[in-house]
Amino acid sequence: MRKQIAAANWKMNLTFQQGEKLLDDIFDAGIDLATHQQVIFAVPFPYLLMTRSETEEVKNYEVAAQNCSDKDSGAYTGEVSAEMLHSLAVNFCIIGHSERREYFGETNSLLSEKVNQCLKFNITPIFCCGESLAIRESGIQNEFVQTQLRESLFHLNEENIKRIVIAYEPIWAIGTGKTASSAQAQEMHAHLRSVLAKQYGNGIAKDISILYGGSVKANNAKELFGCPDVDGGLVGGASLVAKDFIEIIRSLK
Ligand code: PGA
Repeated sequence: MRKQIAAANWKMNLTFQQGEKLLDDIFDAGIDLATHQQVIFAVPFPYLLMTRSETEEVKNYEVAAQNCSDKDSGAYTGEVSAEMLHSLAVNFCIIGHSERREYFGETNSLLSEKVNQCLKFNITPIFCCGESLAIRESGIQNEFVQTQLRESLFHLNEENIKRIVIAYEPIWAIGTGKTASSAQAQEMHAHLRSVLAKQYGNGIAKDISILYGGSVKANNAKELFGCPDVDGGLVGGASLVAKDFIEIIRSLK
């Protein structure tokens, strides 16, 4: 059974102290996760160790980085390698968030290298895909997102594709308060799963978690996560408010 996941993407928000307090407040809610559920905190690099030590006490709570280098090691000032993350026992990393694609010029082929780095060091990539408003309005979103998958993931063999989590995040819904409707989310998630099935077979496609991201809030999470092909969410703004994120965790199937 594929995992149902609530992933918090803190982005470049919160001081260290605010981050600690937020985690404490969330853990105070004492939500026990079922075996098939996971909560993942994608925090800024300097907070990884603190977050890891908070999460390692609690079953199925995990820590993630928000990015890693496509290179092994060397003279790349300011970069953080997948091997470094592995040495901190960080088991997840967001790859290809639309903000990285847009502001840092990350391309599908660069992202395929980052995916490889993660897998080489036993880190599960949370691979983001999603279309802009212009692409949605021209009606070619299915092909666009399919190309993102093909160019960054489809070089992987069956064993490795099973280790990926996918996050569908329509850019027009990120941070805008404009969520995709549950029908729009379900339609795209079903499309992504069928693309995975065509490439790798049904058995593998049905085991890959596909998260929805883009203005997931406490008041819409239940409906979105209730869609048959939506396996939880990647949550930005609402993950910074304890009571909202607690509600979102409670909305997991
Ligand atoms: P949002 O961000 O929930 O604030 O829209 C989601 C994301 O970018 O991962």
